[in-house]
Amino acid sequence: MNVSLFDLKAQNGALERELEEAFLRVLRSGHFILGPEVDRFERALAEFTGAKHALGVSSGTDAILVALMALGIGPGDEVLCPSFTFFATAGCVARVGAKPVFVDSCPVCFNLDVRDAARRITPRTKAIIPVHLFGQMAEMEGVLELARQYGLRVIEDAAQAMGATYRGKQAATLGDFGTISFFPTKNLGALGDAGAVVTNDTALFEKAKILRTHGMEPKYYHHVIGGNFRLDALQAAMLSVKLPHFNGYTAARRRNAALYAERLSALPNVTVSKHENCGSQRATPERAEALRKVAATGKRWSHDLYLPGVAPERDSIWNQYTVRLAEPGRRDALRAHLTARGIGSEIYYPLPLHEQACFAHLGHKPEDFPCAHRLAGEVLSLPIYPEIPAEQIEQVCAVIAEFLQA
Ligand SMILES: Cc1ncc(COP(=O)(O)O)c(C=O)c1O
Repeated sequence: MNVSLFDLKAQNGALERELEEAFLRVLRSGHFILGPEVDRFERALAEFTGAKHALGVSSGTDAILVALMALGIGPGDEVLCPSFTFFATAGCVARVGAKPVFVDSCPVCFNLDVRDAARRITPRTKAIIPVHLFGQMAEMEGVLELARQYGLRVIEDAAQAMGATYRGKQAATLGDFGTISFFPTKNLGALGDAGAVVTNDTALFEKAKILRTHGMEPKYYHHVIGGNFRLDALQAAMLSVKLPHFNGYTAARRRNAALYAERLSALPNVTVSKHENCGSQRATPERAEALRKVAATGKRWSHDLYLPGVAPERDSIWNQYTVRLAEPGRRDALRAHLTARGIGSEIYYPLPLHEQACFAHLGHKPEDFPCAHRLAGEVLSLPIYPEIPAEQIEQVCAVIAEFLQA
């Protein structure tokens, strides 16, 4: 039996009748850009996140772009963001003419290492973009403390983490802006590209709203330059159908993660990543430093397979279930083993941003960000979509057991 990494047909097929009705409603309305469908979805999203305002935009990438533009970030400014993340985060910083200043990652939660961020602050630093990778929020207390200390703006890239919490507060609601992606494989997936910006700041919301439509206010008058970042009515209508099911999707992902953890942690040489090295990094800098040194030396870690862990006071919505194999070449060997047995997996992400050709002018060496560099060679994401049958997870675990014990 093949096991695919995603099965979008399973999720959308279950809602086919409601999605069809929503499609016909929009078709017959003749209103395809912004309008009542988008307004309705924005209200529902604001309510879901608990933020004051939500603004539907064309993608998660454009959400970051709009947020940066609304904060007035541009040439001469530096913006801190992780190296180990999807390209959009730093790409948007570069697109507004600012300089992405990369930050190393925590080897445990995969998110930005706050202590490393602190080291990279200069008088030009204007903002920080913590990315909540794979469904778990970054160490936000540390991020917000840095922001307070140095007067930085905070944009949470919550593309992968809508619904995740940190001390009970929702992703995307703690910074000046939170940005969300509704790319079809995200936990709330549209039927095409879509995204949102979330904020508690009414003045920033108004700015972002004007920027969404070419900086136009009133019609055909432009005091600022924006872009076309509008959300389609069709996508908003589809998302309105799916939003009420979001908590069910998350519950299913959590069940799937628990099943992986139960089955895989029973195997020899498998360990669950320990978060005392993560959330409390500032409290125990020596421990964090020791971890960074191990990463830099390329020494073998003590276990074969590391399962993802969730830090105290956080949770995960498990956008990805990402394991780590520390020994060089071992991750690729496991991936080949899974592929040969019809099991889908993916490497998010094989090359950290500081090593990307388009950022070569920044002059970084791979070892400048030792954890980000290592993670790119060690991570592997397994199928965890809400509708995956439990037997398929059992099958993935059996194949991994076979690999580890060979
Ligand atoms: C961390 C992160 N940021 C930004 C984005 C961009 O979102 P979109 O694909 O909707 O433009 C993604 C999407 O994959 C992402 O994973």
